[in-house]
Amino acid sequence: MTSLNEIRSTFLDYFAKNGHRVVDSSPLVPRNDPTLMFTNSGMVQFKNLFTGTETRDYKRATTAQKCVRAGGKHNDLDNVGYTARHLTFFEMLGNFSFGDYFKDKAIPFAWELLTRDFGIPKDKLTVTVYHDDDQAFDLWKKVAGLPDERIIRIPTNDNFWMMGPTGPCGPCTEIFYDHGPEVWGGPPGSPEQDGDRFVEIWNNVFMQFEQFEDGSRKPLPNPSIDTGMGLERFGAVLMGAHDVFSTDTLRKLVEASAHATGTDPDGEQKFHHRVIADHLRSTSFLIADGVMPSNEGRGYVLRRIMRRAMRHAHQAGAKDPVMYKLVGTLVAEMGAQYKELGQARALIEETLKLEETRFKQTLERGLRLLDDELAKLPEGAALPGDAAFRLYDTYGFPLDLTQDALREKNRSVDETGFEAAMAEQKAKARASWAGTGETKDAAIWFDLAHAHGSTEFLGYDTEVAEGQVLALVLGGKAIDKAEIGTQVQIVVNQTPFYAESGGQVGDAGLIVTETGKARVTDTKKSAGIYFHQAVVEEGSLAKGQAARLEVDHARRAQIRANHSATHLLHEALREALGSHVAQRGSLNAPDRLRFDFSHAKALTEAELARVEGEVNDFIRQNTAVETRIMSPDEARAIGAQALFGEKYGDEVRVVSMGRTENSGKGFKGDAYSLELCGGTHVARTGDIGAFLLLGDSASSAGVRRIEALTGQAALDHLRAQEARLLDIAGALKAPAADVVDRVKALVDERRSLQNEVAQLRRELAMGGGGSAGPEAKDIGGVKFVAQVLSGVSGKDLPGLIDALKDKIGSGAVLLIADAGGKAAVAAGVTGDLTGRLSAVDLARAAAEKLGGKGGGGRPDLAQAGGASAENAPAAIAAVEALIGA
Ligand code: ALA
Repeated sequence: MTSLNEIRSTFLDYFAKNGHRVVDSSPLVPRNDPTLMFTNSGMVQFKNLFTGTETRDYKRATTAQKCVRAGGKHNDLDNVGYTARHLTFFEMLGNFSFGDYFKDKAIPFAWELLTRDFGIPKDKLTVTVYHDDDQAFDLWKKVAGLPDERIIRIPTNDNFWMMGPTGPCGPCTEIFYDHGPEVWGGPPGSPEQDGDRFVEIWNNVFMQFEQFEDGSRKPLPNPSIDTGMGLERFGAVLMGAHDVFSTDTLRKLVEASAHATGTDPDGEQKFHHRVIADHLRSTSFLIADGVMPSNEGRGYVLRRIMRRAMRHAHQAGAKDPVMYKLVGTLVAEMGAQYKELGQARALIEETLKLEETRFKQTLERGLRLLDDELAKLPEGAALPGDAAFRLYDTYGFPLDLTQDALREKNRSVDETGFEAAMAEQKAKARASWAGTGETKDAAIWFDLAHAHGSTEFLGYDTEVAEGQVLALVLGGKAIDKAEIGTQVQIVVNQTPFYAESGGQVGDAGLIVTETGKARVTDTKKSAGIYFHQAVVEEGSLAKGQAARLEVDHARRAQIRANHSATHLLHEALREALGSHVAQRGSLNAPDRLRFDFSHAKALTEAELARVEGEVNDFIRQNTAVETRIMSPDEARAIGAQALFGEKYGDEVRVVSMGRTENSGKGFKGDAYSLELCGGTHVARTGDIGAFLLLGDSASSAGVRRIEALTGQAALDHLRAQEARLLDIAGALKAPAADVVDRVKALVDERRSLQNEVAQLRRELAMGGGGSAGPEAKDIGGVKFVAQVLSGVSGKDLPGLIDALKDKIGSGAVLLIADAGGKAAVAAGVTGDLTGRLSAVDLARAAAEKLGGKGGGGRPDLAQAGGASAENAPAAIAAVEALIGA
């Protein structure tokens, strides 16, 4: 077989034919495990099926699961590029039995598939079993006819599989392919086992225990099977290669990387291309599953992988961003199996390009700093922790990037020093990490789900229903009765209350039994159990009672309108801005809606107007909102917008609204908005009433936020604006329609009045209305005019000085403006006299008497200030004395 796609289908088909449900890969961000950063094996999505806290309508499954091993127990990041088989992203093929078959079937399945369907010669295979697992040993002997020396007992943890510190685990049997004696290496368990001759291709785990935090183990309710076969490693074997980068998909990416950097895929830069090929896959799939680069938690792991790849691209000689150019090749290779890749293509490309462009700015400088630091150190010495921290902090170099760069030079980093400098940042990241995911309190909901099954939601069709009180929960513990005043979580077998999810807030309302009444303030869900957060307002409620549940109708109606408007808004944004717009978060509350989406720039006025207008067009169109349930594949096929990273079940709801001709969207031929959504919606778009965009702001890097109002809230907002307008009109004594013109006219009028006042003040200073003005004195042949003015500001003085100079033709002028006791002084000397007299000296002499200091300007015009305007006569006298001297 020559393609990974072919191998994947052969595997899935084999198990489908043997009664296994082909289940989609779950997202890389696990939904059911707070301890796990990324999905790292096929069994993660089935964890609760093994422990028995969840059941489904199948007991056998098979998957091709996306996995990332770049953090936590299974972390391969550091090895990628340097070994033949490590990858941060890979696909794990697996078959699973949830309390159905066990070893006796798993081993024959594996053997038959490998030797018959994949045609691997029997003598090429060797297996290991856990040292005391005689049953597995005997089965291999019986089923495969393997001689004893090719069934190797391994006493170490290599043959006991655990997904992490806690969770389902058990002994395993591993199947190895023997490349033959011409390749160096020995069988598993031998000192030469790390050689390339024997390659592990498949791990079959006999899930038997659940491990707890304190290290204790409890047997699982039913022994189960979990297997994992790394597609790329297995592909290499079937393609007769030794390294995963020779398999078709990775080879294409290596070639694309070589092409984009203008280098030889197999030349000196070879391992850079391998790192790029692998990291491109992990980053693209993580982005498609909703992870965005950030400085903590999952987002930081993504950023580390991206930047590591970017350094390798730089080393391979790339001058410009290159990663984003390779996404097309990846989509062509893997998009058929993983539809989310194609759907998120624009987002992946934009995110990569942005990160590459930004990091490029510091990468080169950081590498230079690194070289400088190394040059200072003795041969072979480790890079000091503070230098590594500076690279991290100032140049954005994650530690593993620095280590990766040093590895090429056979150097290391003083990690202790680095860790010390990092301690504070780490504490912050941990705090925020602890705040995500499910908490231990969830145990009660798992217990309830186990005892009663999931809560049935009736709220798409009704807002009032009867239910039975299954449990009353107080502080994580079940109680039998809740008395008046108690804050309690109420669980019923069926409910019309919507539980908070997908951005839609939980419902509020009333739960009434024959003995009491509780007010529900919010509804949430966990493990399929809906719990109503309530306070008992009358009497008491008891477990087992029948209850009437009634949603707050008005509140729900507003939430509904906001949620439906959000869908129209989403589509309008995509139409106006482009298909890279993807939902990054939303809130549909009773009073408003908020929508966060990927887009790098602020929206222009024109874009905002277009989006608001388009949403209102579809509201007025008043067409029916339709909901259909279909498989995720069908939904994707008709182009429905899915939330990246959301785990959808076997059935999804697709909500469509708005009719547009020739939209090419396929669903009923002409749906405007098509989204996978579990929320509650209006019956017809007209029920939204109206849509009013309040504005657009930045939510985080590359993410914009729009807030908007609908229906009555939109009208109320507009009414309040209108009331303000009418108040203004009343004050202006003008009709509202004329307000703008009137305000503009008032502003103009005010400006011209201000000019007029200034002019009048100047005229007044000059003697008023064209009269003779102040008399000029003759001081030793120099004409001198001095005047004290009030109601004139300092900045008017230079103009007045010029006017007076013109008037006297030749001489000196002194003006003192009295502004409430403070004085502004200006002195002027006509050009013919500046050789003898300086206005600066005159201003200074005056200022000195006025309680001021200094003064500045030119010989023909100078200004100064003072604190005591009442000394003006003394100031004038001082200037006269100076002129006369
Ligand atoms: N969960 C097992 C593994 O990852 C199959 O190896």
